[in-house]
Amino acid sequence: MKGIILAGGTGSRLYPLTRVTNKHLLPVYDRPMVYYPLETLKKAGIKDIMIVSGKEHVGDFSELLGSGKDFGVSIRYEVQEEAGGIAQALSLTEDFVSGDKCVVILGDNFFEDDISGYVESFGAYGDGSMVLLKEVENPCSYGVARIEDGSLMEIIEKPENPPSDLAVTGLYMYDHTVFGVIKDLRPSARGELEITDVNNYYIGRGMMRYATLKGFWGDCGESIDGLLDVAQKIKGLSRSHSSIKKQNLTTKTCSTKTF
Ligand code: G1P
Repeated sequence: MKGIILAGGTGSRLYPLTRVTNKHLLPVYDRPMVYYPLETLKKAGIKDIMIVSGKEHVGDFSELLGSGKDFGVSIRYEVQEEAGGIAQALSLTEDFVSGDKCVVILGDNFFEDDISGYVESFGAYGDGSMVLLKEVENPCSYGVARIEDGSLMEIIEKPENPPSDLAVTGLYMYDHTVFGVIKDLRPSARGELEITDVNNYYIGRGMMRYATLKGFWGDCGESIDGLLDVAQKIKGLSRSHSSIKKQNLTTKTCSTKTF
């Protein structure tokens, strides 16, 4: 299983924070945004990773993350010449994926859940594609799942009247056929190759699975307020994790004393 982090785009929704830098390099609480998807992939056991970004900033990613050695992974880089959409960025990784399956994660997505179980089962038995959904308060900002009797019927990109409150998160699993699907795509009204069109292709052929996340999920690139909300949530999560660690330490000390 290969991992792909898509970190291109213009970051226009976060302007002027993105005037001179790439969105995925911005701070989110105590680390650069791209650290979070990198950590999500690593925790899922994916250590062969490619990062795709625009030519202006790919050097910054390489300076920040290098070969990946310090993070316990191997990272390669690919340049997206122009912002042509998520699916167009993914198409650039065909040689890297080289007939394997892949997990694609958007560089501005934060996942609290450990996705290892989904990755393992898709790696072992999955074909076509798999997406992860999450209930949100503002579905109009995302791709939204239309579900009937438990079946995923369609994904609608940023709908005015969302058919559910289930956002399609920016983590997608594909088998090797995805590159052929992208080659047959036509640009959307905004001139981009849309990942939602790729996903609807698989849904239409009965080759899409889905699961709904339990923990927090956030899209740091959705808006300035969204970026702040995600950072605050991460701060809360890291505090509660460190207080759990402290409690464990205290228990250990107490029991040592008892003996
Ligand atoms: C993209 C996808 C959208 C998905 C979202 C998740 O939107 O097009 O379907 O729900 O990522 O982060 P974007 O953030 O590029 O507008």
